[in-house]
Amino acid sequence: MIDPSEYRGRFPILDTCTYLINHSLAAMPAAAEDNLREYARTWRERGIRAWAEGWWDMPVTVGDQLGRILGAPPGSIVMHQNVTVAEAIILSCFARSGERDRIVYEEANFPSVRYLYQAQPDLEVVAVADDSAIVDAIDERTLLVPISHVLFKNGEIQDVEPIIRRAREAGACVVLDCYQSAGVVPFDLAGLGVDFAVGGSVKWLCGGPGAGWLYVRPDVADRLEPTLVGWQAHARPFAFEPELEYASGARRFLTGTPNVPALYAATAGYDVIEEVGVPRIRERSLALTQLLIDLCDEAGLEIVSPRDPGRRGGTVTVSTPDHAACHRELGERGVICDFRPGGIRLGPHFFNTEDEVRTAVSELADIVASGAYERHLGAAAPF
Ligand SMILES: Cc1ncc(COP(=O)(O)O)c(C=O)c1O
Repeated sequence: MIDPSEYRGRFPILDTCTYLINHSLAAMPAAAEDNLREYARTWRERGIRAWAEGWWDMPVTVGDQLGRILGAPPGSIVMHQNVTVAEAIILSCFARSGERDRIVYEEANFPSVRYLYQAQPDLEVVAVADDSAIVDAIDERTLLVPISHVLFKNGEIQDVEPIIRRAREAGACVVLDCYQSAGVVPFDLAGLGVDFAVGGSVKWLCGGPGAGWLYVRPDVADRLEPTLVGWQAHARPFAFEPELEYASGARRFLTGTPNVPALYAATAGYDVIEEVGVPRIRERSLALTQLLIDLCDEAGLEIVSPRDPGRRGGTVTVSTPDHAACHRELGERGVICDFRPGGIRLGPHFFNTEDEVRTAVSELADIVASGAYERHLGAAAPF
């Protein structure tokens, strides 16, 4: 079992508050600051030479590091700004999709992805209630099946294997959004056999904003021609040829100049996740979330996340009389978390302690029982 004291010194914010929002913006590793300094030094001292010395290839080399964490082969993951852009690139591969005009979609998916699909004039979004309903809804007209591996509101792990099987049978492609699972729930992208996967780095991967990623299964990649494309996707970008010839593998899903500083920052998070290992993180996460659930039960607070460890991601959502107001009061008491429709989200990571979990639950129980939240009624939604 992980001893959090071995790692806490690497996450400076932990000295200042009870930081339980690792499902949203995880604690920054101090090494991210070093990496950003290294980025600035390289820019200052190497100037234009930095592109050839690593910057240009970073969307692929950083993707390869993620591949080691997510069970994807080298060259199958490329870095992008965010999940929405990654999904738009996937969608652009199917500009001429023929008879297939349906997106089968789970209602609890993250809305940004939904907006993207809804905004497509020639596609019909079929929204269904849960993961088992997805299996039933997939048919021969289904083009894509975007699913969340772990739901953002309540941290529920979705049963993705039957969906992947059914999609394959019907000739549809699955897009697995791993944002809420990568770095906290172990999985193996190659083993799952999923066509596409996407995610970002601000959450459990501790990598900060601007480092979204896109995985394309190697045997699928070379058959696809994204129409949202740019010079990084060309087989010979520095030949500046007038005609597009796609690079092979996931490189063909790149666009233009990469977001270099974000990639420097992100690798600090990946380094520590790789070092600790996702299976060990999972073990610690399950212990902390179980403690959280037990303490909430004792305090009479209602849990709206799965109790079954097999279905529980890294976040526990707790229902309250007014989530915005309780969240505001928790923040004033030094407990950093957030809320979504459904409840307050508490996301302990491997570096959090049992005492921090106890503090959060006892403060929340006190806020609810004493009515201390009432002075914040009408509080605006924060991040
Ligand atoms: C499951 C999931 N997908 C996607 C996103 C965000 O998408 P984007 O990277 O486009 O901001 C989030 C949260 O920020 C999320 O929880």
